[in-house]
Amino acid sequence: MKDLIDIQELSTGEINDLIETAKDIIQQPENYATRCSGKKLATLFYEPSTRTRLSFEAAMYELGGHVLGFSEANSSSAAKGESVSDTAKTVACFADIIAMRHPKEGAPFVASRAVPIPVINAGDGGHHHPTQTLTDLLTIAREKGRLDNLVIGCCGDLKFGRTVHSLIAAMSRYPGVRFVLISPEELKIPEPVREEILHKQNIPYSELSSLESAIPELDILYMTRVQRERFFNEADYVRLKDSYILSPDKLRPAKSDLTILHPLPRVNEISTAIDSDPRAAYFRQVANGKFIRMALILKLLEV
Ligand code: CP
Repeated sequence: MKDLIDIQELSTGEINDLIETAKDIIQQPENYATRCSGKKLATLFYEPSTRTRLSFEAAMYELGGHVLGFSEANSSSAAKGESVSDTAKTVACFADIIAMRHPKEGAPFVASRAVPIPVINAGDGGHHHPTQTLTDLLTIAREKGRLDNLVIGCCGDLKFGRTVHSLIAAMSRYPGVRFVLISPEELKIPEPVREEILHKQNIPYSELSSLESAIPELDILYMTRVQRERFFNEADYVRLKDSYILSPDKLRPAKSDLTILHPLPRVNEISTAIDSDPRAAYFRQVANGKFIRMALILKLLEV
């Protein structure tokens, strides 16, 4: 495997191996401190990011490597009209591996075809965000001790939220997983996810609009932000943005071992009063992002 564009390119065995490597890195970071000595990661971010870009960069530093790149399209020659392929070919002259985020679906795939070095999709439009999914899986594995036999609630913008699409694709591989999809009518899961993943694999799921009625049965609650940048119409965004706000009141009927995840950034979806609840795992999830990206860099560089 040269690149990672879509989580579906990884076999379940490869995902499990990445999770095991990440756990080993957490236990014995000193064993990995010089593995990427002399290697360079280029972070090409055409769209804003805090967690993904900085965790990739921290991951490479902790492997003993170096980082170069840009964090906005306007500070690169994309602003002068350079194509994604030409930028990737240029960067491949300087770096050993690329992590790319782009607002257009398919841009990291185009880059991966243009260069001989590995390209990691760090989020392409409303399409895929495979390293977030790996982060989510590592977090579930660490919080729950398993990836099977879980009731997973996904709540919020299930239409534009690329992390939810990839999470459903990845978690559908594990036995005994059931999804509860909680969203307003306008932000329901897209048809291809429903047909190609849930129906095709006979994965049990239900769709509802009430978070309150879903909460008691959940093992995992995956909250998402309404994706303002993907809306065509500001009025629709304003109407839908506060559809779900998780507050201590709403959590009262939840299981005592519920795990609350959010890919972040959050806007209003989770009250800050929840942050001190031991079930709130979203900042532990952020920390896991660095370890799983370290494991992925090692795999793609064949170090
Ligand atoms: N979860 C995530 O992709 O966060 P950033 O947009 O900050 O990278």
